[in-house]
Amino acid sequence: MVADQSRKAARTDVEETAAPGGADVFHFEDADFERVRKLIYQHAGITLSDSKRTMVYSRLVRRLRALGESDFSSYLRRVQNGDGPEWQNFVNSLTTNLTSFYREAHHFKILARHLEAQPAQSKKRIWCAAASTGEEPYTIAFTAIEALGSSNPAVEIVASDIDTSVLARAEQATYPLDTVAKMEPERLKHFFLRGKGTNEGLVRVKPEVRCLVTFKQLNLLDSRWPLEGPFTAIFCRNVMIYFDKETQLKLARRLAALLAPDGLIFFGHSENLSQVRDVLESCGQTVYKHANAR
Ligand SMILES: C[S@@+](CC[C@H](N)C(=O)[O-])C[C@H]1O[C@@H](n2cnc3c(N)ncnc32)[C@H](O)[C@@H]1O
Repeated sequence: MVADQSRKAARTDVEETAAPGGADVFHFEDADFERVRKLIYQHAGITLSDSKRTMVYSRLVRRLRALGESDFSSYLRRVQNGDGPEWQNFVNSLTTNLTSFYREAHHFKILARHLEAQPAQSKKRIWCAAASTGEEPYTIAFTAIEALGSSNPAVEIVASDIDTSVLARAEQATYPLDTVAKMEPERLKHFFLRGKGTNEGLVRVKPEVRCLVTFKQLNLLDSRWPLEGPFTAIFCRNVMIYFDKETQLKLARRLAALLAPDGLIFFGHSENLSQVRDVLESCGQTVYKHANAR
């Protein structure tokens, strides 16, 4: 087990506080903020409101320090001029990756019933489209194992995200103990290994669960996605909130096109897709099916 909790500073949807003071202050002009906003919107669809200015500063200033850049405009020039690795670091810095095991737990009960209702021999394919650090796709795997009563269920889970640093952590599948503190002890024992020695205080998802999940980088805004439907279920939760309405509706239609005729799409708690009623019909709290499905 690898004690790898340091790659990316822990983030919340609320966000880090003020910029550092003293000699370390970098000038961050309105024009710099506008440039960041434009770049991340065009590339990832992420809209950054005025209130995110301090957050943007505190996240990107780490990159300036790491690269020894002295000001934001030269850093942004570097990003814009196609410094490949830095472009990805820039994107990774601006995503918000809050997630947890069994987040919005009612969805996993619905998923369990949906999987139980599928023909026993059929391969069930699930796409987790904003997988972050992996808690969501692994929860999907736990649900499939329990619902289908097999440690090797006929389930394939594709987990994607735009952010390469969270995907690397997801593949490690190693988490601090407090992230599983609320999990039933039986589940914990069944699905995780406990770290010992230098890994004390960490747990790792067991290999037989990890092998159900394949991770890949995917930008939901790209015009082509490196995967094919149909999917038995699609999870696209708590990512639409960063997109404007037009992007949300376009994305919902594209996801619907990859859904099996009787498939289900799960969105996040504050993501209302009532405007795509012609293709998706609500069938539970932020759960949707094809509008014409029986
Ligand atoms: C708040 S997390 C949600 C994680 C998980 N789905 C959940 O509900 O717990 C949002 C995730 O969306 C990803 N994301 C943001 N923009 C994206 C895009 N254009 N394409 C793919 N993923 C994106 C971020 O990197 C982040 O990991």
